Amino acid sequence: MKRKPKVAVFASGSGSNFQVIVDAAHSGELHAEIVAIVTDKPLALVVERATKAGVSVVALQPKEFPSKADYEAAILTELTNLEVEWLVLAGYMRLIGNTLLSAFANRIVNIHPSLLPAFPGKDAIGQALAYGVKVTGVTVHYVDAGMDTGSIISQQAVEVVDGDLEKTEQRIHAVEHELYTKTLQQLWSRGPLDVGHEGVAKFLGPAFCDE
Ligand code: GRF
Repeated sequence: MKRKPKVAVFASGSGSNFQVIVDAAHSGELHAEIVAIVTDKPLALVVERATKAGVSVVALQPKEFPSKADYEAAILTELTNLEVEWLVLAGYMRLIGNTLLSAFANRIVNIHPSLLPAFPGKDAIGQALAYGVKVTGVTVHYVDAGMDTGSIISQQAVEVVDGDLEKTEQRIHAVEHELYTKTLQQLWSRGPLDVGHEGVAKFLGPAFCDE
């Protein structure tokens, strides 16, 4: 039996991706232990979902700290206590800074509702509709210091429902829920990826060895 990676999900919204991930971990479809959510929005729906699922909540607000580095250092202390190994971003609306990037090098992933590099940043689905594209999609990628600029791990196209934001959002979220779980499962069963500057991903070998 392989050891399960310990994971923290960073989320600040409704947490539908968190829910799918935690359910998949509980059912065994996803070989991982979801030990915490980290949020900067203590009143977000995801906090309620985490409490129901028995997942620890780390709710810290940047305005309580003198700097971003101090804010992230406080998060890091909590994550270290929980022995977290991977960070999974799902609707966490902040850029990850150097403190967490260096502590979790090659172990932070994000999901974004567009086919990157198109439409990075906020309101990606609205941006796609405003541009008039016929096809958009979902991207799972490693996180670096930029806005949705890290190396791409997986993508799936989604057809835009003509001019209809709500229906397009529904399609995208359904694809997100499937793609994120599938991608994370592949990632954790193969081991961490070393993503080189040339954009070629090399497997470093199994991350989680037999016990
Ligand atoms: C998703 O669309 C994700 O791609 C984006 O934020 C949204 C989070 O949705 N980064 P939810 O809170 O998981 O429902």
